[in-house]
Amino acid sequence: MRGHGADANTFQGFPARPLLLTWLCSATFLRRVEGAGGITQDEQLLISDGSWHRDQRKSITLETSCYYTTMEGMPYGCQYNRAYYPSYQNDYQRRAEKTALMEFYNSCGGDFWRTRDNWNGELDPCWDYWYGVTCNEHGYVIKLELSDNRVRGPLPSALGALTSLIKLDLSSTEPEYHMHPNDEVNRVEGSMPSLAMCFQLEEIEVSGNLILKLPDDLYLNADTLRSLSASRNQLRNMPNYLRRFQVLHTLELDNNMIEDEFPADFGQLPNIRYVHLQYNRLKGRLTQDIVPMTKIQVFDISHNPELAGVIPEQVIVDWAEMSYLSILNTSISGYISSLCLDVPFCWKFMYDTHKDLTWATVSDVPDIVGMTVDLAQTNFFDETFANR
Ligand SMILES: *[C@@H]1O[C@H](CO)[C@@H](O)[C@H](O)[C@H]1NC(C)=O
Repeated sequence: MRGHGADANTFQGFPARPLLLTWLCSATFLRRVEGAGGITQDEQLLISDGSWHRDQRKSITLETSCYYTTMEGMPYGCQYNRAYYPSYQNDYQRRAEKTALMEFYNSCGGDFWRTRDNWNGELDPCWDYWYGVTCNEHGYVIKLELSDNRVRGPLPSALGALTSLIKLDLSSTEPEYHMHPNDEVNRVEGSMPSLAMCFQLEEIEVSGNLILKLPDDLYLNADTLRSLSASRNQLRNMPNYLRRFQVLHTLELDNNMIEDEFPADFGQLPNIRYVHLQYNRLKGRLTQDIVPMTKIQVFDISHNPELAGVIPEQVIVDWAEMSYLSILNTSISGYISSLCLDVPFCWKFMYDTHKDLTWATVSDVPDIVGMTVDLAQTNFFDETFANR
């Protein structure tokens, strides 16, 4: 796979080391990257100018960095007791991050979390492997991943002190599994604090909580934010200044209570691929503005009864990578609407430039009914899984 080849390349700049060690090191790193979730490696390639792969260097973790024993600041390699050297402990940023994590723990019911291994003020978040915390080679937090961990309560503003954060995942998966309620769901509530100082933040996944508001200044993360998922919350608004999110790839805000006008900004998001806004109360009209979203794969604005306007016919040609769109239970009109308004998912091959399906042979048309049923089943609570 192309993505993996590119990862392996990030190791080539370093001095040769015994083969086994190199292999162990790469294997660890690859596993970590695969588990990163959200945007797949191949999808990154499609939107990247190459800098993304160079940037991967920043997510080499503390453990992995143990192999780079000549690195400045870690001249002795990985030694557990480094965490207790005054020079390590007195670093201003590391202290601020540990304080932030402890505030988050206290604010969000840490004592009752499903797993809270090593979350203890006596220990170091990075060297002592606090559950859900990943650090870069400098001992700064790059990932906080506590999905389905009974994280409950408001997020403290201190969270914004994690200035190296790349990924924040506080999501709940399904509310129930096989008819049994999921007792581990998170219940983050209230307004999210500013993350404006998280200069590297690429992915926010907070679906399935009780969040009322995204950070007011989320647009200050727009230069790096690639994926924003906040489905199944209580949001009232779209993010401010959506047009600034030039690298945004995935926007999942379905099943909220958003009452805004449909923003004209969408056409200015050149990298947007997945848009999930279903089950909200969006108003206003779709216009010609949406046509430039030429990388769009999924556009689901269904179940917004007051949303009107027209999906321009031009998208039949211009949205070349389209997988499906969904406009069921909206007030959208026009030619595409005449084909798509009554079906849950309108697949690309359900319309074409000839305005009918007479050109298609049986083998051109996949099992639409089967695909739609599958999608409806997997899609009910979390479209995320169907797309990944
Ligand atoms: C139409 O959308 C609204 C708002 O999302 C939703 O409450 C309602 O259940 C939907 N109607 C149908 C028939 O699905």
